[in-house]
Amino acid sequence: MIEDSQLDYELLLATLSREPFDVVARRVEERAELVEALAQQAWDAVISDHHLPRFSSSEALGVVRASAPDLPFIIVSGLIGEETAVAAMRNGADDYLMKGRLARLGQALLNALAAREARRERLEAERSLGESQQQLRELLAHLDNVVEDERAAIAREIHDDVGGLLTALRFDLSWIERNGDPRSAERARHARQTLTQAMQAAQRIQHDLHPPVLDAGLVAALHWQVEEFRRRTAIPVDFSCNVERLALDTTAAMTVYRTLQEALTNVSKHAHATALRVGLVAGDGQLSLEIADNGVGLGAGDLQKPSSFGLRGLSERAARAGGWIDVSPGQRGTCVLLSLPIPDTADAAEGGCR
Ligand SMILES: Nc1ncnc2c1ncn2[C@@H]1O[C@H](COP(=O)(O)OP(=O)(O)OP(=O)(O)O)[C@@H](O)[C@H]1O
Ligand SMILES: [Mg+2]
Repeated sequence: MIEDSQLDYELLLATLSREPFDVVARRVEERAELVEALAQQAWDAVISDHHLPRFSSSEALGVVRASAPDLPFIIVSGLIGEETAVAAMRNGADDYLMKGRLARLGQALLNALAAREARRERLEAERSLGESQQQLRELLAHLDNVVEDERAAIAREIHDDVGGLLTALRFDLSWIERNGDPRSAERARHARQTLTQAMQAAQRIQHDLHPPVLDAGLVAALHWQVEEFRRRTAIPVDFSCNVERLALDTTAAMTVYRTLQEALTNVSKHAHATALRVGLVAGDGQLSLEIADNGVGLGAGDLQKPSSFGLRGLSERAARAGGWIDVSPGQRGTCVLLSLPIPDTADAAEGGCR
């Protein structure tokens, strides 16, 4: 208790003794005593007079808040004006009472203690929520890595096993074409054409599984993706970029690549678009990739669909690479915008392409 009058102090103690508290109290009158008392033991609450000869409740509040931000602080005063009381509450006091109306003291103390408990529980809940969100984010990153590794392994197997076998088959068919009787040769020529298609399909599947982002470079890989999209959907794409090559780390490169892949898949699945614009701009430590279609546009609640993970996954990926994704209605249709920080040296070769 911050109180200069021993009599008032005893009156407060007597008031509290009528409540169901087991009170251990100490009276202090000035700053040094308060600092010492706070350092000496953990208190449950501070009850402070407003105006003391060498101290005031607002100074006391400052001292208390500096060492114990959530310690209940109640002002009890004979002459506190309403304005001062309001200011004290705004600065973090829990309650104020008139000395003539001490009957409310017990309840005020209980309220302040309950409020502190609620604050602590909320902070604890927020901390634990933050922790599980962080764990979830890490798990997601790990799963993404596992999926990418697995895709790369499957792509390698297709290349080494299936690719090898198909190549051997092509040699045999060529031999039959050259050395077989005319009917067999004709049949073999036909089979070789089918085989060429099978080889192209295998190559496409390999590319899909494990983009050649690192081998051919990101810009080339984006070109390839756009070409595939054009071929598959017959939707014309206006593709522009202001660099010819980009030297990015794997995380950033894969983020850009997978963003375009998901956006293109979404356009073919949902948009009913007749035209598409894809723009890549890199420079000044920043990369942006914009995919804008002229389709039906996003419906209300589309981005909150519980079983849709494409765009949510992209946001997570972008955040992991230090950037962000924005999905919004375009002039017409839908516009997906990815923004990533990149090293200043990343735009290795200026020039641009269309
Ligand atoms: N380009 C687009 N045009 C119109 N609607 C779109 C477009 N892109 C996304 N949407 C809408 O937003 C929803 C969410 O997209 P999202 O990619 O997150 O999930 P999804 O494609 O439904 O499923 P998946 O998890 O396989 O990606 C889609 O279901 C669709 O209704
Ligand atoms: Mg999708």
